[in-house]
Amino acid sequence: MAVKTAVFVSGGGTNLQALIDRKLSGGLDSCELTLVVSSNPDAYALERAKAAGIETAALDRQSYADSAAFCKALEDLVAARGIELIVLAGFMTVLTAEFIAKHENRTINVHPSLIPSFCGKGFYGLRVHKAALDYGVKVTGATVFIVTPEVDAGPIIAQKAVAVQDGDTPETLQRRVMAEAEHVILPEAVEEMCRRISGR
Ligand code: GAR
Repeated sequence: MAVKTAVFVSGGGTNLQALIDRKLSGGLDSCELTLVVSSNPDAYALERAKAAGIETAALDRQSYADSAAFCKALEDLVAARGIELIVLAGFMTVLTAEFIAKHENRTINVHPSLIPSFCGKGFYGLRVHKAALDYGVKVTGATVFIVTPEVDAGPIIAQKAVAVQDGDTPETLQRRVMAEAEHVILPEAVEEMCRRISGR
């Protein structure tokens, strides 16, 4: 049985698209892309999911009193569908410790740097690439890891390095890190997690 997987998104959804494309090209056979949940109703990721025929839900973080109430709504969604694996793919909301504990070893995240560099609270999206350029590193990359209550500190599943080029801006670096690292290692890590969960 394929592992029922939910992908949590907030924005463009290129990582979600990498998972959809891998599935369409015959990979990810242990994984069922069951549900896509966005914390932002306007996220383009929702259009990508709909085009791929995946069920979507939009839970606007702003309309919940606090993160406990938001995570309770998330919990209801995933529990109702028997979700076994949660993939955070550009999900810009921090989950509560209770939610993370309930899905221990069943939640992974993709981060656009080589952890432990440029990670933790306040490091997300373009800010990560700006920090890498400001520091002057010559190599950056992406990491997929298991989510634990401490932000960006869980066990690492996969990493891939990307060279910084002269003249890079946060935007050009982000595009290369996505294409050369995130979109490569995230589908591989999802496949590995689904095999672990299904015992195959
Ligand atoms: C990706 O670069 C992802 O690694 C990053 O947000 C972007 C989402 O892009 N996530 C974080 O910074 C989490 N700390 P996408 O919506 O096109 O997949």
